[in-house]
Amino acid sequence: MKTNTTITHPSRHVSVLLSEAIEALHIVPDGIYVDGTFGRGGHSEAILKQLSPHGRLIAFDRDPAASVIARQWQDQRLQFVHGCFSEMNERLLGLGVQQVDGILLDLGVSSPQLDEPERGFSFRFNGPLDMRMNPEAGMSAKEWLSQVGVLDLTRVIRDYGEERFAKQIALAIVNQRNITPIETTQQLSDLIASIVKKREPGLNPATRTFQAIRIFINKELEEIEKVLPQTLSLLKESGRVVVISFHSLEDRLVKQFFKRHSSPPEIPRGIAIAEAQRPQPKLRLIGKAIKASSEEQQANPRSRSAMMRVAERCAA
Ligand SMILES: C[S@@+](CC[C@H](N)C(=O)[O-])C[C@H]1O[C@@H](n2cnc3c(N)ncnc32)[C@H](O)[C@@H]1O
Repeated sequence: MKTNTTITHPSRHVSVLLSEAIEALHIVPDGIYVDGTFGRGGHSEAILKQLSPHGRLIAFDRDPAASVIARQWQDQRLQFVHGCFSEMNERLLGLGVQQVDGILLDLGVSSPQLDEPERGFSFRFNGPLDMRMNPEAGMSAKEWLSQVGVLDLTRVIRDYGEERFAKQIALAIVNQRNITPIETTQQLSDLIASIVKKREPGLNPATRTFQAIRIFINKELEEIEKVLPQTLSLLKESGRVVVISFHSLEDRLVKQFFKRHSSPPEIPRGIAIAEAQRPQPKLRLIGKAIKASSEEQQANPRSRSAMMRVAERCAA
């Protein structure tokens, strides 16, 4: 069996909390692992290093660019699934896998997605306003902005961007598109800059709005809400789920889910149940939330907002 991974990194992504995440997974060399967010494969590569020739790694990514990289890896222990991690249960069943030893989710976007102007994610480069992690599916930011109503747009910018000028920005977008279609990242960021005059030091006026539109276009929070319950049925006893989030909206979902399933299920008042028959929690929290070390934060500014949470599946 070929297990020598030849890895190419055409555009770089520095993996965040790499050693911490791998350690937290507690890898069993013959086990089956899932990397829900392959990206450029930094975490996958580290998982494969700890697996024996009998181990197995199933990696997901919705971005076709990730798929191109993964398919170049000549490693029979790795299977790549081009799709969303919200389809995890179904796609694993299709591969004949019912339970796994560990699941990793390193959420958000990869550096190449942000740094390639044609992907249209960033206000730092001019490009078509796309923002889809999978440009082959769904609606681009340009299409959505051409038709969304001002109330919905305000809600997205306010809720997903935590932007206090949401209403003014939404109105400006709707007014502007009646004059000229908004088709590029530059057009959108210039428009936002004309509205947001004051911003926290170091933050671009467009940061919050771009983040909000990206989260909406890729249904990022819905994806997390859909995948977390699947981890409960997929994980074997003592299997671990490790989640790295990059903003408070993501982290809140993970924190609440872990909290709900690591506390004993509530028993309705008035129902007497013997101690031995009380339902047990499905998860056990492993340590507290972890942030990147100051050295990592200095070396990789992207890691500054990272937060890692770990939970272990209890006996069914
Ligand atoms: C932060 S990067 C992962 C980086 C990776 N851990 C590494 O070390 O190279 C996040 C990746 O997850 C993918 N992604 C985000 N949400 C996804 C989803 N719901 N389903 C599948 N892939 C997703 C993105 O396309 C991106 O490539």
